[in-house]
Amino acid sequence: MHVTHKPVVGAAPEGAGDASSAARAVREMFTSIAPRYDLLNHVLSFNIDRLWWRRTARAFAEILAQPDARILDLCCGTGDMTFALRKQARKNAPQLLGADFSHAMLDRARSKSLSKPSANGRSASPHWIEADALCLPFPDRHFNLVTSAFGFRNLADYDRGLREIARVLRGGGECGILDFSEPKGLIGQLYRLYFKQVLPRVGTMLSGVRGPYAYLPDSVERFPPPEEMLDRMHRAGFRDASWTPYTFGIAGLYRGKR
Ligand SMILES: C[S@@+](CC[C@H](N)C(=O)[O-])C[C@H]1O[C@@H](n2cnc3c(N)ncnc32)[C@H](O)[C@@H]1O
Repeated sequence: MHVTHKPVVGAAPEGAGDASSAARAVREMFTSIAPRYDLLNHVLSFNIDRLWWRRTARAFAEILAQPDARILDLCCGTGDMTFALRKQARKNAPQLLGADFSHAMLDRARSKSLSKPSANGRSASPHWIEADALCLPFPDRHFNLVTSAFGFRNLADYDRGLREIARVLRGGGECGILDFSEPKGLIGQLYRLYFKQVLPRVGTMLSGVRGPYAYLPDSVERFPPPEEMLDRMHRAGFRDASWTPYTFGIAGLYRGKR
């Protein structure tokens, strides 16, 4: 029997031949590093990740100030982007949902939620839901804001991911995708040296798991550059799509409106 695989148009961990095996490999990878994910994140990013989450949350301050807003943080992992959104929302208490397809990552988010009551004690705890970003269990036009921090790059099909976000957003709703990119020039050279040589070794040593930290630089290299992502966002139905580089363009925020 002749089996044909559809080409992967998203993340492709080594050995993944099609979108469903890529998604499975990504889920297994994050599940395997879940216990040490936070520590590794902060060490390997020199804590800059905290600034990026905060800056992203601030970019959506207007929506977060609406008490009746519905907000979804996709690929929430252990919840740091979700917590940054909650902090920015202050006492306004919009409905905040974190979604991820790795049970182990969500377990960490849940326990952090319990040990992290909101600063003012008034904003509600986020809800956590196990869900696949490529097939979201929400009705059309449900959310005012959908964010995703360092998760979108891992989707096995970028266009499908964008279409799903567009589907669940209300008219006028916004999406914010925070992810890595490859800076240019001297910073780019230093970044590649660190990302390709240092980070995989330190990540493997600290996590005790081979694979995920070699996949990270590969996944960034494979992720479309800003011009292409903006084009994909337009095609998925977003308007006013923009990209704001963070920290010399090591990361950046994609924004778009429905
Ligand atoms: C690098 S982590 C980012 C976690 C968190 N947002 C942060 O900023 O630390 C990527 C997360 O995306 C999740 N993920 C990847 N593909 C997904 C999919 N198709 N559906 C839901 N979650 C997904 C992984 O399980 C993982 O928890």
